Amino acid sequence: MTQTYLTLNNGLKMPQFGLGVYLVPDGKDTIEACLNAFKLGYRHIDTAHAYQNERGVGEAVKQSGLKRDEIWITTKLWPSEYGEGKTIEAIDKMLKRLQTDYIDLLLLHQQVGDYIGAWKDMEKAVKAGKVKSIGISNFSENLEELLFHATIKPAAIQVECHPYFPQHELKKRMAEFGTILESWYPLGHGDTKLLNEPVLKALATKYNKTPAQIILRWHIEEGNSVFPKSTNPAHIKENFDIFDFALTAEDMQEIAKLDNGQRYYNATLEEQKRFLGWKPAD
Ligand SMILES: NC(=O)c1ccc[n+]([C@@H]2O[C@H](COP(=O)([O-])OP(=O)(O)OC[C@H]3O[C@@H](n4cnc5c(N)ncnc54)[C@H](OP(=O)(O)O)[C@@H]3O)[C@@H](O)[C@H]2O)c1
Repeated sequence: MTQTYLTLNNGLKMPQFGLGVYLVPDGKDTIEACLNAFKLGYRHIDTAHAYQNERGVGEAVKQSGLKRDEIWITTKLWPSEYGEGKTIEAIDKMLKRLQTDYIDLLLLHQQVGDYIGAWKDMEKAVKAGKVKSIGISNFSENLEELLFHATIKPAAIQVECHPYFPQHELKKRMAEFGTILESWYPLGHGDTKLLNEPVLKALATKYNKTPAQIILRWHIEEGNSVFPKSTNPAHIKENFDIFDFALTAEDMQEIAKLDNGQRYYNATLEEQKRFLGWKPAD
């Protein structure tokens, strides 16, 4: 079994699995993690301006020797960059940091600030060929307003998702737009309670895999895009080794029992407004 792809609502095919680089320091750490992943066959990196490591991602892509169109790069705009006329300038800066002439998937990182103005510029960037696909992250309360104004409907919505919080309601809300779900905190941010759940341990024994691999395979079976973060070469290897087995409908029903509505991070819209007071460095 080889790695799987998701077809987005604009017809583009995205590698379903990738590497997330949240909290990975820029420079050597980001470059090494990405290069390690590329050597194993990873072809999708999830970064953001707020992570301050787009330069490292761009450098790794360059050093990998892979052709640009063999790698999928997702990055995210911070609210300080939202606004018609302002966002397009922020995109040009992103392209420079990433050393590329296009971004595969560009997301609005948070649902605060002038996200409607930003979306207009993102649509212009698609027309100009600077961005292939556009989407959103952490949108909930303001989702319908954005959808109302959007000419291009979001290709992806990136939110917290794992067996404790499988996001089935949100998926139903997005179904008519063909928007795929991308899971952040896919391993519960490394939570040992989740990784030690007896049902996951039992399935790990059944398939000769680890609980982390069972969780990652669950995301694949759910049809989500998933990009666990790791800088540990053993974990980077282990996480990608999930394409030689599949979970049955019965296994999925067992894992579904873990759904307890638990989120690790759930800021209210009011709390998210504090994001407006921070600006990532260029
Ligand atoms: N849009 C958003 O607002 C948002 C928010 C959060 C995250 N994200 C994206 O989602 C990605 C993933 O989320 P995340 O990094 O926060 O959490 P995560 O992938 O659920 O968990 C990462 C943690 O799990 C550990 N880990 C990785 N593989 C493991 C394995 N096989 N066994 C045991 N532990 C393992 C990692 O440690 P080691 O490094 O030591 O392996 C790290 O501590 C991020 O990197 C980012 O790209 C987006």
